[in-house]
Amino acid sequence: MPRLKAKRAIVTGAASGIGRASARAFAAEGASVLCVDRAEAVHETAQMIEKAGGRALSMTADAGAETDVKTMIDKALAAFGGLDIVYANAGIVGPMEPITDQTPEAWMELLRINLIGPFLAIKYAAPVMIGAGRGSIVCTASVAGINANAGPPAYSASKAGVISLVKTSANELYGTGVRINAICPGLIETGITKPIFDAAKARGTHDKIGQLNPLRRYGQPEEIAAMALFLASDEASYVNGQAIAVDGGLTSTLPFAGRGGGSQIRALQAKK
Ligand SMILES: NC(=O)c1ccc[n+]([C@@H]2O[C@H](COP(=O)([O-])OP(=O)(O)OC[C@H]3O[C@@H](n4cnc5c(N)ncnc54)[C@H](O)[C@@H]3O)[C@@H](O)[C@H]2O)c1
Repeated sequence: MPRLKAKRAIVTGAASGIGRASARAFAAEGASVLCVDRAEAVHETAQMIEKAGGRALSMTADAGAETDVKTMIDKALAAFGGLDIVYANAGIVGPMEPITDQTPEAWMELLRINLIGPFLAIKYAAPVMIGAGRGSIVCTASVAGINANAGPPAYSASKAGVISLVKTSANELYGTGVRINAICPGLIETGITKPIFDAAKARGTHDKIGQLNPLRRYGQPEEIAAMALFLASDEASYVNGQAIAVDGGLTSTLPFAGRGGGSQIRALQAKK
């Protein structure tokens, strides 16, 4: 039986990367999906889903603008007759300059998309889901919201805000049957990280990317989509108010010199 059979879903940031992979995964498991992004390529995601035999609609919208978020919820309700899942995933990196050169305006634009966007998704999806007595809202945070050195300050602060948002809003919706969780991806090969991958390729150090976590590799969007699918589904019926890292084990470690405890295992393997 498909894991999202008869579910109705919205995915933001669905033109690329994690959002596109998640929209495709949701649809492949039986959900009707409204794909939302400010980029026109969102329509290609819906076409991919339809081509694969799934059901999808698409629209361009700004996931950080209140009127657009309200419109997106209304569109899903009109088209699908209800709403079971919202994956508030759209995000940007924001200001990259040294913190002493950054402007409040750039911070506000980043917070508008990365933090107020998920808040608006909750604001407008929750009443519908409360009415139905059930629903799952998933937000994309980041390992950058847990520890330093995974993103610039404004980005990291916005993602820490998302982690707090899912915990506090899950409790705000006490007793409603609506679950709210976040995913904290590690380094994933997507549009947002393309500059990192391009720079490493240019330097010839592509094989060094992702070496800091115990799995010693970066991740693919489908590996985050797999967690989004789980959290969206009834399989996660008792998972609520959590921020779950999907990062190859990156946030499980303290900084280490050399290759850490794993060196002992490798020494044993080498002896065999
Ligand atoms: N790739 C990683 O390593 C990584 C790690 C941790 C968290 N994340 C988060 O994952 C989420 C998805 O990013 P991705 O890695 O797939 O990158 P991506 O650039 O491939 O996809 C992000 C999508 O969001 C869209 N978007 C940006 N602002 C928008 C807005 N205001 N309204 C509507 N759409 C908007 C973009 O057009 C793009 O299609 C983001 O929230 C990002 O912060 C990514």
